[in-house]
Amino acid sequence: MMYKEIAPGVKMPMLGFGVYQIEEKGVCKKAVLDALQTGYRLIDTASFYQNESEVGAALAESGASREELFITTKAWPTELGEDKTKRAFDASLTRLGLDYIDLYLIHQPFGDIYGAWRTMEQLLQDGLVRAIGVSNFAPDRLMDLILFNEISPAVNQIEINVFYQQWEAQAFMEAHGVAVEGWAPFARGRNSVFEEPTLQEIAKAHNKTIPQVILRWQLERGIICIPKSTHTKRIHENFDVFDFDLSPAEKTAIKLLDTGKTLFFDQRDPSQVEARMKH
Ligand SMILES: NC(=O)c1ccc[n+]([C@@H]2O[C@H](COP(=O)([O-])OP(=O)(O)OC[C@H]3O[C@@H](n4cnc5c(N)ncnc54)[C@H](OP(=O)(O)O)[C@@H]3O)[C@@H](O)[C@H]2O)c1
Repeated sequence: MMYKEIAPGVKMPMLGFGVYQIEEKGVCKKAVLDALQTGYRLIDTASFYQNESEVGAALAESGASREELFITTKAWPTELGEDKTKRAFDASLTRLGLDYIDLYLIHQPFGDIYGAWRTMEQLLQDGLVRAIGVSNFAPDRLMDLILFNEISPAVNQIEINVFYQQWEAQAFMEAHGVAVEGWAPFARGRNSVFEEPTLQEIAKAHNKTIPQVILRWQLERGIICIPKSTHTKRIHENFDVFDFDLSPAEKTAIKLLDTGKTLFFDQRDPSQVEARMKH
């Protein structure tokens, strides 16, 4: 496993397991158990995913030692604010059956971010979280948070895939000491990513699969990856990425797939923000 030090003394595994859109009863618990059995130790959930209890049940059943695990959860915009975030955090902790969280994130750059951040700084001081960070923050929002707060985010979790490579955002974060975590590494299957010809050729050359090439490419960029799958075979496949390297020519070829556009949600577009944040 590769690790990244995201805060003093806090080492985060660079390959983890995401559980978004695993809602059917029992499926999330089984997937997390499969992942833990495979060797994943970083699990990425959120209150918004409504499966923290299933993640917690899997953690308890797995017998994995708490010190080895690295658990991330997130506060949704409706949970932001000094008191609201404290209550939301306590509820997440209870659902997960834990007494501390490794990484607590603000899920989206909307709502009472500053109130939430003050509470998160306090959680850190109280030892209830090991690191705090954000998700979906563009560089300008990140700069604002960094400039006007005591503690800077340890991590920013953003969409990164071969069609939306986010090089500028990565450079900005690295220059400001914020670790880069990518969500939807497989673009959730969009743009026929699993049949993409350039990736197919690279995968063939290494006797690997397209998902493995994508994860390797992100790891070599220094990005923390959290692929999701509910299939045991794929959970194994996505973990088997530590025995090959991509050549400079292969990385250049992948760079050409970048469209510079999100495949999901542009947090800078007011109409998209309104549509998604109304409920
Ligand atoms: N912070 C945020 O706003 C945010 C947003 C989105 C996601 N996330 C996090 O990032 C994680 C990953 O993103 P994501 O779940 O949206 O998408 P993803 O990991 O890019 O893609 C998941 C899709 O790929 C399929 N898949 C996985 N491994 C495969 C393989 N080896 N071969 C073929 N198909 C494979 C899965 O199918 P099966 O499950 O059927 O195998 C699923 O349909 C989430 O689970 C969540 O933890 C965060």
